[in-house]
Amino acid sequence: MEVKTSLLDNMIGVGDMVLIEPLSEDTFIENLRKRFEHNEIYTYIGSVVISMNPYKSLPIYTAEKVEEYRNRNFYELSPHIYALADEAYRSLRDQDKDQCILITGESGAGKTEASKFVMSYVAAVCGKGQEVNKVKEQLLQSNPVLEAFGNAKTVRNDNSSRFGKYMDIEFDFKGDPLGGVISNYLLEKSRVVKQPRGERNFHIFYQLLSGASDDTLKKLKLDRDFSKYNYLSLDSATVNGLDDAACFRTVRNAMQIVGFMEDEVQSVLELVAAVLKLGNLEFKPESRCNGFDESRIKDKNDLKEMCELLGIEQSVLERAFSFRTVEAKMEKVSTTLNVAQAYYARDALAKNLYSRLFSWLVNRINESIKAQTKSRKKVMGVLDIYGFEIFEDNSFEQFIINYCNEKLQQIFIELTLREEQEEYIREGIEWTNIEYFNNAIICDLIENNKNGILAMLDEECLRPGTVTDETFLDKLNTVCAEHQHFESRQSKNSKFLTDHSLPHNCFRIQHYAGKVLYRVEGFVDKNNDLLYRDLSQAMYKANHSLIKILFPEGNPAKVNLKRPLTAGFQFRASVGTLMKNLLTKNPNYIRCIKPNDKKAAHIFTDSLVCHQVRYLGLMENVRVRRAGYAFRQAYEPCLERYKMLCKQTWPHWKGPAREGVEVLLKNLQVAAEEFAYGRSKIFIRNPRTLFFLEEKRRQCLEDLATLIQKIYRGWKCRTHFLLLKKSQVVVAAWYRRFAQQKKYQNIRSSALVVQSYIRGWKARKLLRELKHKKRCEEAVTTISAYWHGTQVLNTMQKYFMGLKKTMPSMSPVDKSWPARPYGFLDGMHQELRRIFHLWRCKKYRSQFTEEKKATYEEKLAASELFKDKKALYPSSVGQPFKGDYVEITKNPKYQKLNSLVEDKVLLADVVSKINRANGKGAPRIFLLTKKSLVLADQKTGQVKASVPLLDLSSVSVSTQSDGFFALKLKEGSTSAAKGDFLLSSDRLIEIITKLHRIGAASAERNQINIDISDEFLVQFKQDKVCVKFIPGTPKNGNGVACKRKNNRLLEVSVPSP
Ligand SMILES: Nc1ncnc2c1ncn2[C@@H]1O[C@H](COP(=O)(O)OP(=O)(O)OP(=O)(O)O)[C@@H](O)[C@H]1O
Ligand SMILES: [Mg+2]
Repeated sequence: MEVKTSLLDNMIGVGDMVLIEPLSEDTFIENLRKRFEHNEIYTYIGSVVISMNPYKSLPIYTAEKVEEYRNRNFYELSPHIYALADEAYRSLRDQDKDQCILITGESGAGKTEASKFVMSYVAAVCGKGQEVNKVKEQLLQSNPVLEAFGNAKTVRNDNSSRFGKYMDIEFDFKGDPLGGVISNYLLEKSRVVKQPRGERNFHIFYQLLSGASDDTLKKLKLDRDFSKYNYLSLDSATVNGLDDAACFRTVRNAMQIVGFMEDEVQSVLELVAAVLKLGNLEFKPESRCNGFDESRIKDKNDLKEMCELLGIEQSVLERAFSFRTVEAKMEKVSTTLNVAQAYYARDALAKNLYSRLFSWLVNRINESIKAQTKSRKKVMGVLDIYGFEIFEDNSFEQFIINYCNEKLQQIFIELTLREEQEEYIREGIEWTNIEYFNNAIICDLIENNKNGILAMLDEECLRPGTVTDETFLDKLNTVCAEHQHFESRQSKNSKFLTDHSLPHNCFRIQHYAGKVLYRVEGFVDKNNDLLYRDLSQAMYKANHSLIKILFPEGNPAKVNLKRPLTAGFQFRASVGTLMKNLLTKNPNYIRCIKPNDKKAAHIFTDSLVCHQVRYLGLMENVRVRRAGYAFRQAYEPCLERYKMLCKQTWPHWKGPAREGVEVLLKNLQVAAEEFAYGRSKIFIRNPRTLFFLEEKRRQCLEDLATLIQKIYRGWKCRTHFLLLKKSQVVVAAWYRRFAQQKKYQNIRSSALVVQSYIRGWKARKLLRELKHKKRCEEAVTTISAYWHGTQVLNTMQKYFMGLKKTMPSMSPVDKSWPARPYGFLDGMHQELRRIFHLWRCKKYRSQFTEEKKATYEEKLAASELFKDKKALYPSSVGQPFKGDYVEITKNPKYQKLNSLVEDKVLLADVVSKINRANGKGAPRIFLLTKKSLVLADQKTGQVKASVPLLDLSSVSVSTQSDGFFALKLKEGSTSAAKGDFLLSSDRLIEIITKLHRIGAASAERNQINIDISDEFLVQFKQDKVCVKFIPGTPKNGNGVACKRKNNRLLEVSVPSP
């Protein structure tokens, strides 16, 4: 919710001086002091804003503050310059009234700062958009440029405006800024050539020398050292807290934003440089034959550089400093200039150059910021003019400045009264006349066309004959002697004859702001503001774009023999125009006051403030404002503020606000003469009445606050109580639930325990019964088992005894086994038979000798090789394998043969070697040792063939009952040359078994393959012959017959078994 505050809330002192009670100068100043000490620098007198210079930056110009004051009524918030700016802007935008903001006050009181705050506020609250923002930016940036060229440090103000400025900001119907027009008033140009002690020349000179780059300075032929330039006073060349170099950058940037071209900036700087150079020109006298001295330039270097800068022919300028041409009608007379005149000419040129440059700058800025549209504009003028000045030594400039302030005071009085009167008329309230000091009389003293001081000065300047400042003073002394605000020692007014505070060459004016003593010296010259024509012509001839424009009167084609208008006349005219302009607008006043002379924060010098309060006529302002009715307020806010004071209006008044206020005041029994009802406002005559209302309101607010507090506390306690109650119910519910849950858990667990005990008891009972039953069953089983056991035991005993009696023989080949007596012993009976057989065999084997064991092993091997594979095998089973059948060691016939065989002979027998050609057999001795087999002649014992067993690859036999076997030799072995052997023996089984066993026992050679087949190939020398076994026919008899059938076939017929 938006919090509405009022000017009357949280007041430090009073925010509006109209409300001060009792009203006196002391209370007025005390109020200002109190507010100043609390950093409340703004105070109102009705709609006028008094602004105290805080001399320190305060956090009251932020964007938040702008928002706070935006679209709020003037008295709604505590006094602020933004409230005035907002009021002015809104009445311009919404009511279509042109506005002017008049900022007055003495030098250093904060006028320029105030004007900037107003402009920045208006810029912040008015419309936005690219184009509008550009216009705003240009308007705001014109300030730094003008300040650099038109402001200077004075003893009163480090940034004193040395020109008057009035800026019209133009708006469209929506209140968006369109552009602006700046008018400048009389620049204090004497400052260019001379500055009082402790003061500086215009800022731009110092800014240029400190801030320009080396390159720029070189181009401008300048030196960074201030001391090199006569026009720059040295005692206060730097200002505390002011960075000239940074300011220069700001100014250049601002010029760029405003729209200055780069070459324009350069030209401006060249002119500034030229002024500095001009100041360095010095003259020396040179005697002429006519006895007069003629001035000559001492050192021409500066002149040369200046001429180069401005593109002027050096000789022309040099001549202009030595001669002066006076033209009268058709005549031209040239006179020489003495040194003093040359210096005068130099300074006049410098001042003119600078002041014209300044005017050009203003025009140039105007060109940039002027509104682009021709449609009707609304205007807000901001006037920041030099303040009232009283120096020790006051001259023409101060006179002009003070005259301007005098005029402004006039307009202030006029407008304030007018406004007051208008408001009374508007509101239909009777007007009571107000006594106040009207300074029109002083204005008249200065500006009266007939005998005003300015008119006298002009008259004196135009008068033929010798004219001096003294003659001017004399004139004043005669004409103004009787004027009550004019004082002079020599005047016909005898009361000043003995006034020693009034020197002879001075006159004094009692301004509205105090008495000021003016020294007449220089009045005539300054008013004439003469520049020798030779100099203006020299300038016009310059080859420099800007200079030419600045000195149009130097154009020989436009020689004007008329005297130029005097400075005083021009100023009076422009002030006149300004006043007319201001009178057409709705005025808004900011009255600036400086709290001390030391530019210090926190110091409040009563006497100084009192002086300003007096001359600004602030007390009168308050009196005028209070003369009829001290306070006024629109009905709505008034009712809103005080409605709580009456039961009928509180809390809501249904009818019109005015009636509400009437009821309210009647109810409060306020005396009828204390207020008047206007059309839209209530007027309160005495601040006391307002304070009475305020006090009542305060008390009522206290009561209301107590009531609100009471209700609030009650509400709070009740809410708290309800909350507690609700919480208690919740807690209780939860607790009950918890307790019930717990109880239930207990019951449940108890039930479970009881249940489990019962179940346990039942189970144990059942277990006992079951155990008993089981034991009974076991007993029955055991008893029956015992009984059966004895039965079986008997049976078995009988069985074993019977078996013992009927045991078969110990011969392993005995197959008999007693019959089983009982069917259930079948398995065991068979097992016993098997065990018995194995035992019998074991017994049998244990009787074997080693030799017999070997024989049986051979037999076993033979059975593995041939059993069920060769029909001859069964016949060999019964034959013992004797090995040596020819008794090779004993038979003398074979002794030789035996000795030839190295190893032990494993087998010696007679075999039949089958003739390859016809299949007939021939007996041969067959010897087998571990390593070889030998075939020898049976009769002679001569070795026919010896084959190492290694050469033997396989043995082929038939499946029949024949004794044929083929020894196959490994291909490529030495033995293989003659081909394989085909032999026949009845002991074939033994021979092959032995042969095979040798192979099996030996690690060197491979096992000899035994190939059992009825058809195999035999290699006879080159031929491969197939040996085929066929069943024998009866004609072959029972013997085996072998026949060579052809080259490839050897047929062996074997009788069928
Ligand atoms: N509202 C303010 N807040 C902070 N400082 C201020 C304020 N107003 C003025 N000042 C200080 O006071 C100085 C002087 O103010 P300003 O230049 O506005 O005076 P002026 O009235 O324009 O004087 P002159 O007539 O010499 O131009 C400023 O430079 C600034 O330091
Ligand atoms: Mg100023």
